[in-house]
Amino acid sequence: MMKYAFAAAVLSALPLVSGQAQEWGQCGGIGWSGPTTCTSGTVCTKQNDYYSQCLPGISSTVENPPPPPPTSSAPTSTVASSTSSGTSSTPTSTSFVKVSGQKFTLDGNDYIVAGTNAYWLAQESNADIDQAFSDIAAAGLTTVRTWGFNDVTTAQNYGAYYQLWQNGKATFNTGAYGISRFDYVVSSAKAHGIRLIVTLTNNWSDYGGMDVYVSQLNPGGTHDTFYTNANVIAAYKTYIQEWVTRYGSEPTILGWELANEPRCSGSTGSASSACDTTGSTIFTWASDISAYIKSIDKNHLVAIGDEGWFQEANPPTYPYAPGVGVDFVKNLGITTLDFGTYHSYPESWGQTANETLWGVDWITAHAAAQKTANKPVILEEFGVTTNQPTTYQLWYNTIISSGQTGDLIWQAGSQLSTGPSPNDGFAVYPTSPAYPVMESAAAALKARG
Ligand SMILES: *[C@@H]1O[C@H](CO)[C@@H](O)[C@H](O)[C@H]1NC(C)=O
Ligand SMILES: *[C@@H]1O[C@H](CO)[C@@H](O)[C@H](O)[C@H]1NC(C)=O
Repeated sequence: MMKYAFAAAVLSALPLVSGQAQEWGQCGGIGWSGPTTCTSGTVCTKQNDYYSQCLPGISSTVENPPPPPPTSSAPTSTVASSTSSGTSSTPTSTSFVKVSGQKFTLDGNDYIVAGTNAYWLAQESNADIDQAFSDIAAAGLTTVRTWGFNDVTTAQNYGAYYQLWQNGKATFNTGAYGISRFDYVVSSAKAHGIRLIVTLTNNWSDYGGMDVYVSQLNPGGTHDTFYTNANVIAAYKTYIQEWVTRYGSEPTILGWELANEPRCSGSTGSASSACDTTGSTIFTWASDISAYIKSIDKNHLVAIGDEGWFQEANPPTYPYAPGVGVDFVKNLGITTLDFGTYHSYPESWGQTANETLWGVDWITAHAAAQKTANKPVILEEFGVTTNQPTTYQLWYNTIISSGQTGDLIWQAGSQLSTGPSPNDGFAVYPTSPAYPVMESAAAALKARG
């Protein structure tokens, strides 16, 4: 039945063949052949070369064309948050972001999560961290997701690492290449009026993550024993406690995430039989770890950081199917999780042939789950490597029209002193065609509220 519901929702999101475009609907742009006039009470507003949109009531702050040049000043529409009186130099980040129903709030106003990932921030110099946040703020983004982990087995004297593992013991790194680097990330974010979502470990072996805990504390154990081994769980909680106590009263941190893309599977690609691929192992783990964070940190929000996989009986495509051990809908019910997260990588998930429309369905499905759970849900990572402007425009459009709470692109980049910031094929820089699409989508999300 879900499938029919998705189909109906997608159809209604598609342009009408004739007549006027609806509120939030597309009304122009390169390649657009649908309606170019808007339903009464809304005005067709050029967002970028690929997209004009019917916006309600046109306030003085949602401007008519011209399209925003890449470095134009950030839109200052209704978003409450982080900048004070229109200047980004004196932000007021003295309150914590909270949730209310399906929205994030700040001081009683909507807080709009329109942002990006920048996992690499703490590895850079102070000047480059400042450059990245400066670009992100200028693009009108509010929120950055970044890594709060790097587990190593040999000390290093560059970048940032937070735990040195030797002989089954972890030492938290308070040295020059340790948590002080993250202190700078926080202070720079604060200075630029940006809030941070901090992910505390990784499913993947980049920057250490789960497999280091397992190899140090449960040698020979499979990847998924990260979720069940008592010593591993205790060590992870010790690590969490370091972060949460250090930044417990820091409102620049929006929230903590339990892991980047947790899955049952180990490096073999198949889960050990002990990990329930229909979701109960990770559900139990996420319940326990999120409750632990809440017990020591009353201020910050908590989410999983997962890819948002469903467990449908009749999955239309693979990401809706049981298999990796995540049950998005069930996890949304965990009371110590404040918001839901999901990712969209159709090229990695066998959907290359139809990636744009597959993503529209994926967003629509998560927006429906958001409404049922009545919690905020964000598309917190997404990327394609071809046709980025048109695909992202349609996805952003679907986020706005479906009521999805927010989004974080993977990933807005900057020119750093060392060259372009890291690019895994998905990075968009201020000169990239997709960059103005991202900027105007942030403005549109702020205008929607
Ligand atoms: C999770 O980590 C394992 C082991 O490093 C890896 O094989 C798997 O591809 C990862 N999956 C995701 C989605 O991160
Ligand atoms: C692409 O996905 C859309 C949305 O699910 C679907 O309606 C359409 O039939 C798909 N097209 C192909 C060629 O698979």
